[in-house]
Amino acid sequence: MPIVRFVREGRDVLCPVGTNLRELALAEGLELYGLKGRLGNCGGCGQCITCFVEVVAERGGAALTPRTSVEDQKLRRRPEAWRLACQALVQESVAVLTRPQNGRDAQAAAISAAQREPLPEGRIPLPQPEVDEEMVGESPQENDEL
Ligand code: FES
Repeated sequence: MPIVRFVREGRDVLCPVGTNLRELALAEGLELYGLKGRLGNCGGCGQCITCFVEVVAERGGAALTPRTSVEDQKLRRRPEAWRLACQALVQESVAVLTRPQNGRDAQAAAISAAQREPLPEGRIPLPQPEVDEEMVGESPQENDEL
């Protein structure tokens, strides 16, 4: 599963392939919207142009699904790395800056750090069951007798 690194918030979030980036951010309680979006947004329909994220690093060059026709139209005058979170589905691990229109310069160090630190391959080890050191080597029958 891919990992989305939210640079501004300093959070790595594991998600299934195909996860909608807007829904992931909101489910994690992250502030995706600036003031205008907080006052009113389209709920993910691609119409309000307030759910900007900037892709600052990605694995494989296509970590998010390609820009939709809505994004092509709405992001004409925005930087190429900007996306509408509601239109983007996660395919690979990616680092994004939420609200790139607000205080991006103040995030320069965090962006550089995110770009230097390799994105995880998207696989994290499964949690291992806790092993009681005193029980190691004992047969199940012996355990039953305890
Ligand atoms: S939520 Fe309105 S354009 Fe994304």
